[in-house]
Amino acid sequence: MKPGGIGIVYLVGAGPGDIGLFTLRGMELLKQAQVVVYDGLANPGLLRHAPAGAELICADKHRRAQRPQRITQDEINAILLAKAREGKRVVRLKGGDPFIFGRGGEEAEILAAAGIPFEVVPGVSSFYSVPAYAGIPVTHRDYNSSVTVVTGHEQSASTNPVDWPALAKTPGTLVILMGLKSISRTTSRLLENGRPPETPVAVISQGTTKTQRTVTGTLSTIAALVAQSQLPLPALIVIGDVVQLEKKLGWKKS
Ligand SMILES: C[S@@+](CC[C@H](N)C(=O)[O-])C[C@H]1O[C@@H](n2cnc3c(N)ncnc32)[C@H](O)[C@@H]1O
Repeated sequence: MKPGGIGIVYLVGAGPGDIGLFTLRGMELLKQAQVVVYDGLANPGLLRHAPAGAELICADKHRRAQRPQRITQDEINAILLAKAREGKRVVRLKGGDPFIFGRGGEEAEILAAAGIPFEVVPGVSSFYSVPAYAGIPVTHRDYNSSVTVVTGHEQSASTNPVDWPALAKTPGTLVILMGLKSISRTTSRLLENGRPPETPVAVISQGTTKTQRTVTGTLSTIAALVAQSQLPLPALIVIGDVVQLEKKLGWKKS
C-alpha cells in the first residue's frame, strides 16, 4: 500500500465457532491485517493470529465493550470507511458466513458506494455446520430434497417478513437462525398452519464448540423443553425428519 493511498476491507467469514473451520484464505488475511473489526460471534481465539501491532476493534452489538451503549451498524460502517480511507488493510471478521444473515451484504454495499476496494471471503455457515456437529445432515435423500433457512428475529424480518403459513406447508428441512427467544410463537404458527405436531425438532446451542448442547423434541413439545433447559446463545433450530438421525449419527470431535 503506498502512503496516502486507499486501503481495502476484507469481509471474512469466521466460521461457526470451532477455529478449525476457519478458512486458509481468512487466516492468510488475518495474519496481514492492520485493523480487525470483529463480531461477537467470531471465536476470540482467532484474534491471536492478527499481527501484534494490529488494531483490534470489538463490534459486538450485544456487548458493552467499554462503552455505555451498544455499537450500532452505522457506527461499524463508519469505522470500516474511516480505516480504509486511512489506507489500512482491514479484516472485518464476521461469524459464520458474512452473506448469511450477517449484514455482510449491507457492509459491502456501503463500501462499494464509497469506492472502497473490498473482497469477500466466505466462511462456514452455522446453518448446516452446527447441525452437522450435532449429527444432523440438513439434507438426506431418504428424508427430503430441500432445506430452507430463515431468521426468527422479528425485527430483522420486519421489512421482509417471514411467511410462516407458507413455510408450514413447505416440505423439507427448516433451519431457523436467531429464533430461540421466539420459539414458542414460531412453533405455534407452524402448528396453526398445518405442520404436523410430531415433526422432529432440535435446538442446538453453541454448536461446534466444547460447550455445544442439543435439545430434541417435536414441534408440539420443543418450546417447553427449551424453557426448562436454559440453553445459552447462540442457538439455532432445525425442524424436519432429518432430526431423527441425531440418535444414530451423533458424534464427538476427537
Ligand atoms: C446474525 S446470525 C449470523 C449467522 C452467520 N452469518 C452464519 O453464517 O452462521 C446469528 C445466528 O446464527 C446462529 N449461530 C451462529 N453460530 C452458532 C453456533 N455456534 N451455534 C448455534 N447457532 C449459531 C444463531 O441462530 C445466531 O442467532
